[in-house]
Amino acid sequence: MEKLKRQQNDLQSQYHVSVKYIACELTQSNAVDLIFEKLNNWQVSVDFLVNNAGFNECGLFTDTDMEQEMKMIDLHIRFVTQLTKRILPMMKKNNYGRVVNVGSTGSFIPSPSDAVYSATKAYIMSFSNALYGEFKRTGIKITSLCPGATETEFAAKANIQDTLLFKYAVMKPDSVVEIAYPKLMKGKRLVIPGIYNKLLIFFSKILPVGVTNSLTITMMK
Ligand SMILES: NC(=O)c1ccc[n+]([C@@H]2O[C@H](COP(=O)([O-])OP(=O)(O)OC[C@H]3O[C@@H](n4cnc5c(N)ncnc54)[C@H](OP(=O)(O)O)[C@@H]3O)[C@@H](O)[C@H]2O)c1
Repeated sequence: MEKLKRQQNDLQSQYHVSVKYIACELTQSNAVDLIFEKLNNWQVSVDFLVNNAGFNECGLFTDTDMEQEMKMIDLHIRFVTQLTKRILPMMKKNNYGRVVNVGSTGSFIPSPSDAVYSATKAYIMSFSNALYGEFKRTGIKITSLCPGATETEFAAKANIQDTLLFKYAVMKPDSVVEIAYPKLMKGKRLVIPGIYNKLLIFFSKILPVGVTNSLTITMMK
């Protein structure tokens, strides 16, 4: 809540716009209803939706916490699906909208030590690509943003900040946004920020799964 309040103040003073926030645990089953109650009270329509909230429960599948994994499925799959379903009709009314679904390089690469996370991110990309096709000839554009390791609180929360991946292949969040923003405004289907991530995904498509499995295991050490 403090973080949101701080961001509200920063944005309002820097850009002289009115900013509202909703503090909500998004894995609870009525999260979308709670959000819509607020939107209705404020009488606002939505032009931009960024499905960004996410986290990782990393480790060998037999060692990870099942409750956390179920929450991850709730957040990355159920919540994203429900919220997008409720927001898109608003955008259809105006024939304008931008939806950004934050996937990951893991959307392309089934990742040992990150099995559930990468599977949920594969769902996000598949869902996003399909919607892109449905709205292609309209003013609504759906973008799948697939970053790799990025210097946020994400790695420390998942206790993977000391892995090779986060030591040597990490991007600044500002760079990710600077690359992604113009592309999503143009309505691009897919944004993969950074040359390292582009190469990783290119090779993951042509290399056998056994090789990408070994690479992923090495990078997560
Ligand atoms: N950083 C990376 O290396 C990386 C790489 C690929 C993809 N991604 C994806 O990028 C997105 C943004 O992550 P980030 O890197 O910015 O990580 P972050 O710094 O940890 O931010 C994640 C945000 O999601 C919110 N969140 C997480 N679980 C939530 C829940 N159950 N209910 C409500 N809010 C919740 C967090 O709120 P609190 O602050 O209250 O916890 C935080 O604002 C995620 O979808 C992640 O999977 C990140």
